[in-house]
Amino acid sequence: MAQFTLPANSKIEMGKTFPAPEGAQRTRKFRIYRWDPDTDDNPRIDTFEIDLDRTGPMVLDAIIHIKNEIDPTLTFRRSCREGICGSCSMNVNGRNTLACISSIDDYKGDVNIYPLPHMEVHKDLVPDMTHFYAQHASVEPWIKTQSPTPPDRERLQSKEEREALDGLYECILCACCSTSCPSYWWNPEKYLGPATLLNAYRWIADSRDEATGERLDALNDPFKLYRCHTIMNCADSCPKGLNPAKAIGEVKKLLVERRG
Ligand code: SF4
Ligand code: SF4
Ligand code: FES
Repeated sequence: MAQFTLPANSKIEMGKTFPAPEGAQRTRKFRIYRWDPDTDDNPRIDTFEIDLDRTGPMVLDAIIHIKNEIDPTLTFRRSCREGICGSCSMNVNGRNTLACISSIDDYKGDVNIYPLPHMEVHKDLVPDMTHFYAQHASVEPWIKTQSPTPPDRERLQSKEEREALDGLYECILCACCSTSCPSYWWNPEKYLGPATLLNAYRWIADSRDEATGERLDALNDPFKLYRCHTIMNCADSCPKGLNPAKAIGEVKKLLVERRG
């Protein structure tokens, strides 16, 4: 196997290597991005050789094993361990994914783990999600109504109206899509990015919502929406199998129809 090297102009340094425990039969190398703003000038890559017989089957299991057994300073987010909370999103062998639903066996050879790309990093694998969440909040992701609430029941939907939300409501805001989108890399301040736009469309598509015109007006902006150039990285990287590019296309279509 080719030796792992960093590009000559990289500010990232090669860090410590933690060899496999003696007697390990099945081993795998995990190379992990490390950076502590309190102590490090530059980030480094630490190498952990793991005994696969002492860890669970998922990439997150290996990371938890490293923290519990080898280096307790390794910092990452996780909560549900079953692809529901969106906390453990990271870049594994060049692809954004959820570590908890990524099987180690699906990766051949060494496993290289970095934080989500093009985000500020708090520490190690923990990106700063503040701006991402603020963008999500900016589309007012809740039902907005003017008509009075029925006194004796919920606001109902037909089966078809409910089905219109399939492929949208499942988003767990992991940011795998937005941080794999080149348009979002270049214009993160102004372009809302695929995750936020998919969620914007989720409320536009909701038959109970009564603010469609207002929502479309807010998105009708050369930067917020029209920086999407249909590159499709977003759909390719979504670990929930959603298609933000399609949702963005639906918003554009509604804006065209509205112009008549
Ligand atoms: S389709 Fe649009 S949102 Fe998706 S990756 Fe491409 S430019 Fe980004
Ligand atoms: S659309 Fe998919 S990749 Fe994007 S934030 Fe939602 S769940 Fe994550
Ligand atoms: S830990 Fe919740 S999605 Fe991975």
